[in-house]
Order: sequence, then structure tokens, then C-alpha cells
Amino acid sequence: MTMTIIKEIDYGTPESKSEKTVTLTIDGTSVTVPEGTSIMRAAMEMGTAIPKLCATDMLESFGSCRLCLVEVEGRNGTPASCTTPVAPDMVVRTQTQRLKEIRNGVMELYISDHPLDCLTCAANGDCELQDMAGAVGLRDVRYGYDGANHVFESQCGSKNDLFMDKDVSNPYFAYDPSKCIVCNRCVRACEEVQGTFALTISGRGFDSRVSPGMDEDFLSSECVSCGACVQACPTATLSEKSLIEIGQPEHSAVTTCAYCGVGCSFKAEMRGEEVVRMVPYKDGKANRGHSCVKGRFAYGYTTHRDRILNPMVRDSIDQPWRETTWEEAIGRVASEFKRIQEKYGKGAVGGITSSRCTNEDVFLVQKLIRQGFGVNNVDTCARVCHSPTGYGLKTTFGESAGTQDFDSVEHADVVMVIGANPTDGHPVFGSRLKKRLREGAKLIVVDPRRIDLVRSPHISAEQHLALKPGTNVAMLTSLAHVIVTENLVNEEFVRARCDWNEFTEWADFVSAEANSPERMQQYTGVDPEAVRAAARLYATGGNGAIYYGLGVTEHSQGSTTVMAIANLAMATGNIGRPGVGVNPLRGQNNVQGSCDMGSFPHELPGYRHLSDEVTRSLFEKTWGVKLNPEPGLRIPNMLDAAVEGTFKGIYIQGEDILQSDPDMQHVAAGLGAMECVVIQDLFLNETANYAHVFLPGSTFLEKDGTFTNAERRIQPVRRVMAPKNGYADWEVTQLIAKAMGLNWDYQHPSQIMDEIALLTPTFNGVSYKKLEELGSIQWPCNDEHPSGFPVMHTETFTRGQGRFMLTQYVPTDEKTGSRFPLILTTGRILSQYNVGAQTRRTDNVMWHEEDRLEIHPHDAEQRGVKEGDWITVRSRSGETALRALITDRVAPGVVYTTFHHPLTQANIVTTDYSDWATNCPEYKVTAVQVSLSNGPTQSQEEYREFSERSRRVMAVEAAE
Ligand code: SF4
Ligand code: SF4
Ligand code: SF4
Ligand code: FES
Repeated sequence: MTMTIIKEIDYGTPESKSEKTVTLTIDGTSVTVPEGTSIMRAAMEMGTAIPKLCATDMLESFGSCRLCLVEVEGRNGTPASCTTPVAPDMVVRTQTQRLKEIRNGVMELYISDHPLDCLTCAANGDCELQDMAGAVGLRDVRYGYDGANHVFESQCGSKNDLFMDKDVSNPYFAYDPSKCIVCNRCVRACEEVQGTFALTISGRGFDSRVSPGMDEDFLSSECVSCGACVQACPTATLSEKSLIEIGQPEHSAVTTCAYCGVGCSFKAEMRGEEVVRMVPYKDGKANRGHSCVKGRFAYGYTTHRDRILNPMVRDSIDQPWRETTWEEAIGRVASEFKRIQEKYGKGAVGGITSSRCTNEDVFLVQKLIRQGFGVNNVDTCARVCHSPTGYGLKTTFGESAGTQDFDSVEHADVVMVIGANPTDGHPVFGSRLKKRLREGAKLIVVDPRRIDLVRSPHISAEQHLALKPGTNVAMLTSLAHVIVTENLVNEEFVRARCDWNEFTEWADFVSAEANSPERMQQYTGVDPEAVRAAARLYATGGNGAIYYGLGVTEHSQGSTTVMAIANLAMATGNIGRPGVGVNPLRGQNNVQGSCDMGSFPHELPGYRHLSDEVTRSLFEKTWGVKLNPEPGLRIPNMLDAAVEGTFKGIYIQGEDILQSDPDMQHVAAGLGAMECVVIQDLFLNETANYAHVFLPGSTFLEKDGTFTNAERRIQPVRRVMAPKNGYADWEVTQLIAKAMGLNWDYQHPSQIMDEIALLTPTFNGVSYKKLEELGSIQWPCNDEHPSGFPVMHTETFTRGQGRFMLTQYVPTDEKTGSRFPLILTTGRILSQYNVGAQTRRTDNVMWHEEDRLEIHPHDAEQRGVKEGDWITVRSRSGETALRALITDRVAPGVVYTTFHHPLTQANIVTTDYSDWATNCPEYKVTAVQVSLSNGPTQSQEEYREFSERSRRVMAVEAAE
């Protein structure tokens, strides 16, 4: 493998999507391009790079630098090639004496106003200004350049103070105005790509400069640290601090973000084994060259000192950990699991796969459990997030996954966002959505909280249906009521694609007066006229797309809500083409993949039920064992069985169930009752407090493999450094398998993918070779769809006819009353990720040091709560304390918190109610009371002490 920097071509202006073409001549060569293409891009496509500074193909052309001038036969003057579209039979010259002189003059002006400290500049070797000076052949500057420039002269006063005016407030990038050429690329990137509008050019003439707000620095401005401006900047004005510190990278590899289900592609730019920076990859089909603060900058956890790099064991959880060899640790796992099975029976052990790990890692863990342990006791964190999506979409459409790719949003006319907060939870998709909304698409938000999308620069939702938490089904059924009773159903679609009898039964059901918005208002609290307007807009506004998140699934009626969403899409014909569809915004980077890979106790990879004999025998033949046709235990059942004394050993890879699963005390009791808890993770997480064996995990930078994002897109993860712990995760699972007597012999994850492809019809055509060729593949990928399948259910539904399901609203058993009058709901914020294990170990903590409880001013005043006060949140399950944040983002009667910090212990408060079909916990609705307190609760203090005690490591103690 050659180690080089992957250079992406910059075509100068964005691609034209026109299907019509235009033929013209550039420098004597005929070239045909789509109508609407700029001359600059047409030239670049035939290999001629016209000098440029203010243009880049991530942004619309701007035409300010005047470096890209060309001559066009029959036209006067020298038009800018970036802003001039091609025309039929146009004859263009890109290099003439006149053009050379003009460009030289322009460059001379730029350079005369630039501090030429190139040798010590962070961009040295990767600076477009430097490159352009070379490209135009600049050899002399006539304007008395003396190393100073206008920023230096006007603001610093002395040459030695050149860097005085730098803004280094952002933890990840620096702003050095002395190098700014005022090309406006950063300002446009923030507007066009990110949609935050944080930057302006302030001042005039020589005094003009980029500014992140009125007298604000970057950190205190509106900036969300996505890095788009840094990427767009052609000079060193905006530079990553890591680049400034380390120097230019010398090789790179394309890999996939390990945070959220958007699945952004990045170039990991390296110097040796050190990451210099993560640059969003323009060819990445999920992100199209954009990123958020987490994937772009928050990778410091991969080398954080808290990482555990040596295996550790202990006999009981009140002992300190003892570091040991891999041989001893793996031997202990194998012997303990064998002992437990001999003593308590085969079914006394199981495991949990990780939605943070690769498909290959997950496949091996579930294989170990089924083939090696001989049980189906395997589950995954999707149990607590998107299991209702799997159930609901499989029932209605016949396939458990979302229907579209992210590009689809570019064709949407009306977007309904339900129980999701894309700008925080799925930021790059959020930016793509905002772009489409700025282009004119209409937005309906169904959410108890006023998420940013409801009102942000140049965006305003047509309708914000701020329903009471727990009433999604009432809301969606009343939307359906309007669509049916006002004759807005797309009957042609329904007759052609769905079961007509089931449709009519459903139509009768939703038409009942009891399901009208007027009657449902008693539950939802939403003005019926707003509901009617939203239903009309979705049904008649053109392509209607629904995006939803955990605010849909984490309810006792989560699966019903997913089916209600599918009903709406089918009834209006919004399925089976770009711009429409039903799109779950998946949380974890590989939660789609972990479900695909057979992590559920009733399914083999590819969502095939264990009771299916043909499938089972395929696996039995390949794996050489008999598989149990009965489903195994789900996570809550494993914990119940542990408390009852029949479940004794668990292997958990990359999951922190103590922090992420509901009813923390029950989880703790279950784990505490087991005889062998094996944790494989990067850090001593909260669950590890109850572990007997700790196997160090590897990061996404240290292993090869694949992740599958929310679009069903399988994307490569590439190893750019050796695992600091000694083994990639798949190798550790293989070591356990071998120690248990299995004859596994994988040399590389590509062989694991070959086995997945062999055993899984939807993956039949997937291989590392094909991934290398295509970059990524959206499953299904097989003989029928050899290159994958972007939009599902185009001709027929996977199950044949679409199936309408009745969605009777059943209020949750979790009721508010005089003791618990408020409803607590939860979510997450942009800078932190989930339980925070990674992001808390990065500078992202600067934006979110602690979880706070959002409370409406009216509710706060009633309780005498002021901003920042410590308050106790008490539910029927338990209590915790955190500090108050008073805001009208939440409605009166609703409180909200994030759960990124372990001491918040939000899951002490949540109940054990769960989705009727899948057991997905009802995190989003808990009746609580809030009162002033003095600080953390006693149980929080006790937990802090317990955590510290259980993290003791003998070797460290000895050293001290
Ligand atoms: S980092 Fe992103 S949000 Fe911040 S100024 Fe740059 S483009 Fe705008
Ligand atoms: S900061 Fe960079 S991108 Fe922005 S105007 Fe200055 S040189 Fe251009
Ligand atoms: S949007 Fe998600 S996948 Fe993309 S960079 Fe951010 S965290 Fe990573
Ligand atoms: S690149 Fe065309 S005017 Fe700047």
C-alpha cells in the first residue's frame, strides 16, 4: 500500500444537475458538459485548472477575486470563469498574454497585502494563495512589500505583534486575521453548507475582515464548530490547531465517523501514526464534504490517558483490578463461561453486541454466542432505541430499514420532522435539510420542545405541533383523520401498491370522530386547526418526506407510532421515489449494522427468524453446529434472569448498559448477581464497575471494517494506526472463540465480510473489493441490485403489498398527577454524544460541562427555582439532582434533560414501562416533581464513591 495524501479535485463551482448538455471549445478542445456548468468547471473537467481564489466547488460562485478571468470569442472584456455559465459553441481561451498580465496584477495586490512568513506558516505546502502565486508566475511585487500588512499596520502597530490579533478561543481552530484575503469563502461556507450564518465580513476596504459576530470571539459566537469555514479557507487564516501544532500530514486514508448514524466520510490525514486532522471527504455520499464538531474534531478520546490498554481481572467487584496478560484474561473468560454453563446450564450465559463497533465485530460476537455458547441470548442497544423502527417498518413495508438515501432530501417539498432534533443529533443531515428548506421546501415539526429547526436563520417551520410527550399516536392518527376525511388520499397509489381491504378498514378507523384533531386535542394539547393545516400541507405540498428519531420510538407505543408514520406515507403516496419516504434518524454510527448482523435474540443476520429452517440450516452447515430454533433472552430478560439466579455470565462489547438502559438500579442488581461479567471497551465505563474481566477495546482508527449508516449505506472503516491495546476488537472475539475450542481462523475482516455475504441474501454482493471500487454500498446488494439500492420500495413493497395497520391511541400508564405533575423527556445536544464516554474526553466539554434540567419559567417560578439552582427531580422510580436551566423552549408542564454525564443518573428517574412490541424503554415520558435542593442526592454521592472504588487498579496503586 502506498502512503500518500488523497487529493480531491476542486472543480471550482458545484456540479450542475441539468440533464441537458452544452458543447463548447476551451483552448481549442471541444468539451460537453451539463447546461448551467460554469466555464471554470467545464475547463477543470477537461483537465485545465484556471487560477482561482474565491471559488471552490463546495460553494456557489461569488466572483470577487478576479483571478479566474478568461477570454470568450465575440464577447468584450474578460469575464470571470466561475460566474459565467457555458453556452453552446462558445469559444474560450484560458491563457493569453492579456489574461496573464491581469492575473499577475491581481496576485501582486494580494501578495503585497499578505505577511510572507510562508516558511513558518501552518499552511506552508497546502496554501492556495501560495499555489496561485506560482500558477500565475508571480515573480515580483512592485508595491513596497515589507512583510507587514493592513491588519498588522492598522491594529497591531508593530511588525513583531503580527499575531496579536489571533482568535484562539475555539479549542479546535485558530483565526489569524493577518492572513485573510477576504475571499468570503468562510462566510459562504457557514451560510450555504452549515446553515448557521455565524460569520460576516465587517469593516470596509483595507479594514474589512471576517468576524464571528459583534465583538465576539468564535467560542462565544453562534458558531457550532463544524469546521466548514476552516475547510473552505484557502489560506492559513482559519487553521486547525492540530495542524498548527503537528505540521502538514504526509498520508491519509478515507474512513467513516464513529459517532452518529449519519455516517460521514473523512480523510484521516496522518503524520506517521498521529492524526493531524480529520477532513470531511467530498466524495462521501452521506455527508458530501461536510461534518460536525464531533467527527471533525472530537477524536482526542482515541489517545486519551483514561484508555485502558492492558487486560484486567478480579475475582469480585469489591476488589481492585489487577492488570494481566491477554492469555490469562482470555483464558479466564473461556474457563468461566464453561464453568457457568456446566453448573447452571447452557442458557446461563449470553452477550451484548455493540452498535459502536464494526459489522464484522458484531457478526463475530453474535456468532460466538450462537455457535460457541450454543444459545441465542444476544441483544444490542437498538433494543433501547430503534427496535420499534424494525418492528413497525417490517410489519407495514416488509423491510426494517429507512427507505431513502440522504440525497433524497434535496428533492423533498414538505418535510415532517417527528421526535428528532437533527441539528443536534444528526447535524450534517440537519445542515442538508436546512439547505433544502432555504431553497423553499416547507417544514412541519412535531415535537414537545421548540427545537432549533422551528426557527433558525432563514428558516421558519410552517407548523410546530408542540404535542404533550407520549401522544404521538394520537397526533398521527388525527393527521390521518384529516387526510382521509378531507379526501386527500392518493387513491391511485394505494390501489396499485397496498392491500385495499386493509386500507379501507384503516380509513374507517381513522375517520371516526374520536380520532379527529378536535377530539384528540384533549391528549395532544395542540390546536386542531394547526393539525389540519399540517395534514393538508403534507398530503398536497408535493414530495412529502418524514424524518423521525427517538422521540418516536422510545415510548410504550413506539412501534404503533412507526406504523402510523408508515400509514401516512402510504396513504399519500409518499413512498418509492426520491424526495419522499420514511426515514428513521439512527442514533449510533452502526446501529443499523448491528441490527443487520443478527444482534437480536430471535433473528439471524439479515432479519431472518430463527424458526426459518432453510436459513437455520444454511448457518448450521457453515458453522458446523446445531442452532436452537427458539429465540433467546433480550437484555431486560437477561437481567431479570440474573436477579432470579438463572443467568450468570455475560460478554458485553462496547456498551454501557448501566448508564444507557432504563431502571439503573435493576440493571445494577442484575449485573451484581452475575458471576462473570466481561466488558470489552475503551474505558472503564459505568457497567465495568460490575465486571470481573476487562478486555481493552480498539478505536475506529485502529481497525479495518465497515459501518452501516441510517441510509443502509455500508462504508469502509480503515485502520490508520496499530491498536494501542494490541488487538483489534474482532481479534479479541476470535481469541475467546479459539479458547472456547472453536476453529476460527480469520486473518482479516474482509474474510468476515465474505462470510456475512455468503450467509445473508441482502449482503450477497458485498465485498471489500466492491467497497473499494464503489466507495460505499446501500444494501440490498445482490444479483438483482449489484451496486446496491438507494431508494426502497420503488415498484412494490418488500413484503409485496403495503400494509395499513390500525393505530389505536392508548395513553401510557405513566400518568401525571398531583404528586408528579410534570413530564420529563430527554434528548441530546450537539457537542456531546450519548453517554459521553468519548466526547467527555475531548475539548467538547467546553460547550457542555454538565447536564441541566430545562424548565419553563412559569414552572420554575412556582417552585422558586432560579437559573443554575440545584433541583431534585423525583419520579415513582427514583430521584436525582441537577442544576436548572430556565427556558421557554419547553412548554409549561414539561421538563427536559440530556444524559451525557454519568452522575446525572437520568435513568434512575425513568420508569420500566416499555414498547408493547419490542420492550424499547419509554425514556421520553416520565412523570416527575421538581423541587429545590442543596446539591447532588445521597445516592449520587454514594454512586460517585462506589465508582471511584470500583475503578481502582492495583498496578496504579502500587506505583503511587
Ligand atoms: S465552524 Fe462552522 S459554524 Fe463555526 S463559523 Fe465556521 S462554518 Fe460557521
Ligand atoms: S478567513 Fe479565509 S476564507 Fe475567510 S475570507 Fe479570510 S481568507 Fe477567505
Ligand atoms: S454528523 Fe454524525 S457522522 Fe457526521 S461528523 Fe457529526 S457525528 Fe460524525
Ligand atoms: S475564482 Fe472567479 S472571481 Fe474568484
